[in-house]
Amino acid sequence: MTRKIGVIGTGNVGAAVAHHIILTGLADQLVLIDKNKQKVKADAMDFSDALANIDHHTAITVNDYSQLADADIVISAVGNIRLPNESKTNDRFAELPFTSQAVLEVAPQIKKSGFNGVLIVITNPCDVITSLYQKYTGLPQNQVIGTGTLLDSARMKRAVASELNIDPRSVSGYNLGEHGNSQFTAWSTVRALSHPITEVAEQKQISLEKIDQVARDGGFTVLTGKKYTNYGISAAAVRLARDILNDARSELPVSNYRKEYATYLSYPAIIGKNGIEEKIQLELTDREKEKLQLSANYIKQKLAETLD
Ligand code: 2OP
Repeated sequence: MTRKIGVIGTGNVGAAVAHHIILTGLADQLVLIDKNKQKVKADAMDFSDALANIDHHTAITVNDYSQLADADIVISAVGNIRLPNESKTNDRFAELPFTSQAVLEVAPQIKKSGFNGVLIVITNPCDVITSLYQKYTGLPQNQVIGTGTLLDSARMKRAVASELNIDPRSVSGYNLGEHGNSQFTAWSTVRALSHPITEVAEQKQISLEKIDQVARDGGFTVLTGKKYTNYGISAAAVRLARDILNDARSELPVSNYRKEYATYLSYPAIIGKNGIEEKIQLELTDREKEKLQLSANYIKQKLAETLD
């Protein structure tokens, strides 16, 4: 069976996602869509020039929404990132006026194509944009997923791993809530060296508060250095795509609709061929529940303002 993925928006993020897909042979067919016709055509040619020297073949088409009809996955990487000192904020909501407009242009075309796979949303502010995509494509909620704090959880793992001098894959646990400033690390879920991190931190005198901040600020630290972030997010998005295509039933912290919070936010779910297969129920502390509620309230308020 052939595997087909569409990537909409081939700026720094979408191009890194496409590159990752091509190098790993994740898709047999790749559809690239971007408003900048010259750039997307050149990217497609550049990727095609890689094919003779890599392990997999990928058929690439450009700027044809009708190609999405039988795609398994579409990834939205539409965006217009701004530097903190340009937007005077380190808030991903600075992108909302542009990206919410982009959803109004892109979602009807996805819908018109007849696409009925899983839509992965990278576009920021991720949780609000994921809600908008669900609304305007009319796809079922389980088929619309934001990459959310899958990336921030990876940043938390990187920071914990670096303190303990271990591989980030040997750290488990989650950042929850908004893929933005109201997110937090749910330390009650984090384990390393086969122990709850709270015990390890006490024993090794590590400040979890500091790590929490490192994870939350990670995007802006990279952004300040290179004007955009792309490799961390592309690894998160491609991991999510791979687990969907493989029907992996993996547990990942992604932005999914949670009825009890009445919004999209990042909370672990079981990922498989239908997107969100099952919802997980965590045993959070009272303080973590409060933080998650505050984060949910913030996302809901921003979504309401956008729909006004
Ligand atoms: C990131 O966290 C900016 O949302 C982007 O890398």
